[in-house]
Amino acid sequence: MTISKDEELLGLKNIGRIVADTLQAMGRALEPGMTTAELDTLGRQLLEASGARSAPELTYGFPGATCISVNEEIAHGVPGARRIAAGDLVNIDVSAEKDGLFADTGASFAVPPVAQRIDRLCRDGRRAMWTGVRQVGAGRPLAGIGKAIGRFARKNGYTLVQNLASHGVGRALHEAPEVIPTWPSPGERRRMHDGLVFTIEPFLSLGAEWAADGDDGWTLYGTPQAPTVQYEHTIVATRRGPVVVTLPTRRENVRNRIPS
Ligand code: CO
Ligand code: CO
Repeated sequence: MTISKDEELLGLKNIGRIVADTLQAMGRALEPGMTTAELDTLGRQLLEASGARSAPELTYGFPGATCISVNEEIAHGVPGARRIAAGDLVNIDVSAEKDGLFADTGASFAVPPVAQRIDRLCRDGRRAMWTGVRQVGAGRPLAGIGKAIGRFARKNGYTLVQNLASHGVGRALHEAPEVIPTWPSPGERRRMHDGLVFTIEPFLSLGAEWAADGDDGWTLYGTPQAPTVQYEHTIVATRRGPVVVTLPTRRENVRNRIPS
């Protein structure tokens, strides 16, 4: 969507805060022994308590309120009987609708004890996302986002998954502009206009370059298989630069680990 009125921005910030608070609470609750279905139930309760509806469920009939992807799963993982174990890398993606407005956010969490290279991957996954966010502004090229993230990834020895793109959001979970690359894409000629709402969600990896379909029709797997993280915010492009709408009520120190 394109924001043209203050009340639209306020509404978007409201659902943005709801999904961010839900993601933060789920990240805090994550602990070895719990199932991904239990974690999803917490997410559903928090969304419902805020008067929000799960966007993937509403839009696609996804079998869960949130997407929870563990280790070899990199996106759109279906909550279920899988138990979280120490050392797991867990991605939680929360998107929801309230009053006709949609926001989308996600983060990866490493469950202690965390190997140093995974800790570094989580830290750098966040940095890769913010590198993209800094390229946002009215009139600027969309390609600048993937170009900057690509430079960051290459410099630091990571790969980027190149078929899981960012996307317009706001009146729907996925809308125009579709397929916003978070990797270098020379053919990308579109520009951001004032008020444009979209996500930035690079998938940074220790080796994966593509996402492949699994057997359940939802879950995506990295190929070649390697630890992969995703961090996502919903952003508005303005003349003054990016406005991030998926910020939690209480900002905590940037932290990828859950408390031990
Ligand atoms: Co998402
Ligand atoms: Co998204």
